[in-house]
This record gives sequence, C-alpha cells and structure tokens, in this order.
Amino acid sequence: MYYGIEKFLHAFSSLADLGQEIADTRDYREMVETALQVVLGTLAIRRGAVVEYERDKNVLKFIAARGISHELPPDVAFDGAVVKDLCAGGACGLNLYADEGSGANKELAEKCRALFKDFGFELITPLIIRDTLLGVLLLGRKVSEELFSELDRDVVCAMARHIGVGIYSHRLLAEVEVRAEENRRLYDDLRETYQDTVRAFAAAIDFKDTYTRGHSERVGLYCEIIAREMGWDDEQVEGMIVAGYLHDIGKIFVDREIINAPHRIDAKLLPELNGHTIAGYELLSLIKHPFTDIPLMARHHHERVDGGGYPDGLTGDQIPIGAKILTLADSFDAMTTDRPYKRRRTLEEIIKDLQENAGKQFEPGVVVAFARAILKEIKGETEDKRITKMLAKNYDDVKSIEPLLVELLAKLESPSLNTSTATS
Ligand SMILES: [Fe+2]
Ligand SMILES: [Fe+2]
Repeated sequence: MYYGIEKFLHAFSSLADLGQEIADTRDYREMVETALQVVLGTLAIRRGAVVEYERDKNVLKFIAARGISHELPPDVAFDGAVVKDLCAGGACGLNLYADEGSGANKELAEKCRALFKDFGFELITPLIIRDTLLGVLLLGRKVSEELFSELDRDVVCAMARHIGVGIYSHRLLAEVEVRAEENRRLYDDLRETYQDTVRAFAAAIDFKDTYTRGHSERVGLYCEIIAREMGWDDEQVEGMIVAGYLHDIGKIFVDREIINAPHRIDAKLLPELNGHTIAGYELLSLIKHPFTDIPLMARHHHERVDGGGYPDGLTGDQIPIGAKILTLADSFDAMTTDRPYKRRRTLEEIIKDLQENAGKQFEPGVVVAFARAILKEIKGETEDKRITKMLAKNYDDVKSIEPLLVELLAKLESPSLNTSTATS
C-alpha cells in the first residue's frame, strides 16, 4: 500500500512538472520532447514517441521520439476510420498486444499494431482536445518488463491530456500568427496602394504646372527631413511626406493659363490661384487618410505666423505645426528653382530670407530644424545628403552657406523654441 502511495505521489508530482514544462517552454519541439521525456521517466519506459496528426494530409508525423532511432521516422499514412475510432474514446492507454478490451478496441489495436509494427510500441494514447484528434502518444514496454497497471494508464492518460493541450495551444498560436501575418501583408498592400495613389496625384499636379515639375516631390522630401530633424516618429514623418506630395492638389481646379502665366498673376486672378488651398482642403477631406491633418496642412500651407497669409489669416499657434513645415518646404523650393517670371535666388539670399522671416512668415523652430539638417549634411555628419544633392543641381558651391547657417542658428536657436511636437 505504501509503495502504491509513493508511486502515486511520484506520478502526481511528475504530472505537475509536465504541466509546468508545457506552459513554460516556448519552443514547440522542445516542449514536446521534454514532455515525452517526463512521461518516459515517470513510468520508467525506454521507448516512446509523440506523433502529430496532420488532417489535411491524413498522415501521422513524428515530432519527438526516444529509443527507436536517432532520427525521426518518416510520416505514417493514416486511415480515416482509425481516426474515427481513436476519437470515439475508450482507447486511452490501449495496449496493442494484450488480448483485452471490447471488440471495437481489439480491432483498433490490430489496426494500430499494423501501423507501428516496426517500432515496438505497446501502448497507444490518442491526444484529443475538443473532440479533435491532434496526435497520439506511443509508449514501449516498461524497463522492468512489468505490465502497465491501471494507475500507470491513468497517469499516461492525464499526461497525454497535458501534451494535447500543448499541441492545441501551439496550433492556435500558429494560426493567430498566420492571420497576423496576413493582416500585416494586407495592410502593407493597402499602404503601398495609398502611397502609389499619392505619387500619381503629385505627378498629375506637377504635370499641370510646366515650370515647377517635381515641386511636390521636392516639398515632400524637405518636409520629411525637417520632421525627422524635429524628432517626429516614423508615422508622423510619413504623414508629412504625403502632405508634401499633396499640398498643391487644389491646383487641379485652377485654370492652366493662370498656373502657367509667364508673369505675376494680377490681383483679379489671384483669388482663383490662392483658392487652391481651400479646394485642396475640400478635396482631401473627402479621403480617409492613414495620417492626421493632411487636409488641414494643405489648407494652411500659405499662412504666415504673423497672420499675413491666406486663406484664413491664422497666426502663431493657430496654424498646425505640419502646415508650418509645409510653408517652409514650399517656399524653399520656390526660392531655389526658376519660375517663369522669377529666377531662383542665390543660396546666400535664401538663408538670409529664412532668418529675416523667422517669426514673420515662418515658425522659427521649423527654420532652425531645417538649417540644422542642411548644416549636418554640409559638415558630413549624416549619411543622408539629399538636400545638398538636390541643391547641387542648381548651385555650384552649396558648402559656402555654412557660416550663414551657423549664424542663423546662433540667432534663432533658443531653448524656449518648441521644435519636437507634432499635432495630432
Ligand atoms: Fe501652394
Ligand atoms: Fe507648393
């Protein structure tokens, strides 16, 4: 009796260990191998295997084995009728060789014997969770050559349930991971489609304006660089690039003659040209963007912090920070490229303009971020040299503005400038 209790306690603590191992081990194969080892150790068995049932292929796949060979045996083709019989219950700890049990079990034992005759397994226990066969636990004879007792079988059945739960959880997790991967791919596809659409729109806008080809793309680039310099996260930066590409989308509604006029637009036609801000806002408001405030940025990209801009004459903090970045990127591109009625200005003039207009047309913090980004490129502090490369197309000596940038920064940089917050 005492011996029985001792064995029972041993089995009970092994069961607890097994549950813990299954819960703690993250690697699936390792979990199954450890579980098998615990089962074999508990009952002093040399030979055993955990075999997973792959329903779609109708095969049994060895995932862990001990005492039969160094390598896992090949898959075993499975008969659907055997699956049904195993799931029917009553086959927990079924001895394949003892002449016992009901007629149905005898038949099942015979079939299973044929399947596993080469491996010397004696006991088969189906791993069933929620009426689904997940696999089988196969066990050889005990080292002592004793027959399996009722307690042994109960222990095996309880342990098999633990292993079944482990396999079931793994499958669930794998399924969730597949779904998550599918969703991620779907999201990436959507994002790519959105970006392609944005680029196509930008090309359409710039196509209409003969003199400013590539303007939207360049503004997108400047916006990206400024936002990064201001410490924005990747998503906010991506939003800023999109805003750069789309800021002039309202020009689609402006007469081509006005956009391409080889002279300054007279006061009579100015409202139509300036109306591209509101037109762009209204058009972009119809689209659900993955990034915030794109329509508002387009609306306010011609505002000035001193209130002298359009369309709403907003001042200072009333203007979204993204629109302020756009204003600077947009103006910088206008100043550095030739227009029909105006040649590009020298880089010296432009840097001075930025300094003088900080606090009037431009947000000082945005000017500081842009100047810092250009200076870093000139000094070779960044791998990215996209601004200086862009400028080098039109200017011979971009490096010459270094002292002017240093001077601008010395004048404008102040700890009180808030340069790191994006609007939501
Ligand atoms: Fe504009
Ligand atoms: Fe523009």
